[in-house]
Amino acid sequence: MKIAFFSTQSYDRHYFNHYNTGHELVFFEAPLNEQTVNLAAGFGTVCAFVNDILSATVIDQLAAQGVQLIAMRCAGYNNVDLAAARAHHIPVVRVPAYSPYAVAEHAVALILALNRKTHKAYNRVREGNFSLERLTGFDLHGKTVGVIGTGQIGQVFAGIMQGFGCRVLAFDVIANRDMEARGVEYLPLIKLLPECDIISLHCPLNEQTKHIINAQTLGMMKQGVMLINTSRGGLMDTRAAIDALKSGRLGYLGIDVYEQEEKLFFHNLSEEIIHDDMIMRLMSFPNVLVTAHQGFFTDEALTQIAQTTMQSISDFEQGKPLKNKI
Ligand code: NAI
Repeated sequence: MKIAFFSTQSYDRHYFNHYNTGHELVFFEAPLNEQTVNLAAGFGTVCAFVNDILSATVIDQLAAQGVQLIAMRCAGYNNVDLAAARAHHIPVVRVPAYSPYAVAEHAVALILALNRKTHKAYNRVREGNFSLERLTGFDLHGKTVGVIGTGQIGQVFAGIMQGFGCRVLAFDVIANRDMEARGVEYLPLIKLLPECDIISLHCPLNEQTKHIINAQTLGMMKQGVMLINTSRGGLMDTRAAIDALKSGRLGYLGIDVYEQEEKLFFHNLSEEIIHDDMIMRLMSFPNVLVTAHQGFFTDEALTQIAQTTMQSISDFEQGKPLKNKI
């Protein structure tokens, strides 16, 4: 099968070449969107990532060019018009489970860095500043942590936080009995928000969850709460978060995802003028930590992503059932 990979970086080429199961791989650095879709002409499969735009128009064009399979090398699929794919009988596969530990542990890394200010301490000490002024943190032990979305990543995250001695509350459309047996208490969102010292988002982005963090829900949170988003940028209304940071309602914000990230993340823009004023405002707060969608970025996760994607493509070629079809 001839596969067109979009939005690729050196690590995509490395892992997919290594785990290739006999396909012809072509790597494009360009993202997949209406302007670039013609690059997919002559390919049987398109392999896309989190910020590619697989709108109805793009999928119509992919179908017209003979693409038979869309393989998302990620878990989320909010950027794919599934109805359009279905209308063209193009199956869409994804990687539903790749090291949930990678993302859960990154969420914890953001919590620890924001709390104990290790990123600031590192810079201070390198410059010979050994002062502890304004580096005060807090014990995680005994704090209340809210997990929104208790799927694979949320469950791992909850377990880690319980290991720190935190009380864990959860909100999900379905309560998970194993989690309840492990001492996690499910509450409606409006009851959970005022209870928590730390809130971490682990639900997918969909019509129900878009801007689940907004002026109203931020207003229900404790003064000085820590909010962590390693899920999808669209879960949080950035403008409302900026207001909450200004008022002190949000005491800490750690994000690995951002609503407008497709124009920024995964690129080196250090010598460019950045026109996104909201991200620049966010980064100007001393209590905000932004990473550029690196939650998934561990050797184990990249290996599983490449292996699962290759397996799905081979299964498709051989007419086998597609267990990772969305
Ligand atoms: P999952 O599908 O195992 O779990 C999602 C959970 O969210 C489920 O329990 C589901 O019932 C719940 N949920 C769905 N709608 C909800 C709603 N309206 N309110 C509350 N909960 C709701 O997904 P998984 O693997 O745990 O991933 C979660 C998200 O993490 C993905 O959707 C993706 O957006 C994000 N992600 C981020 C990565 C990164 O690199 N930062 C990498 C991988 C995933």
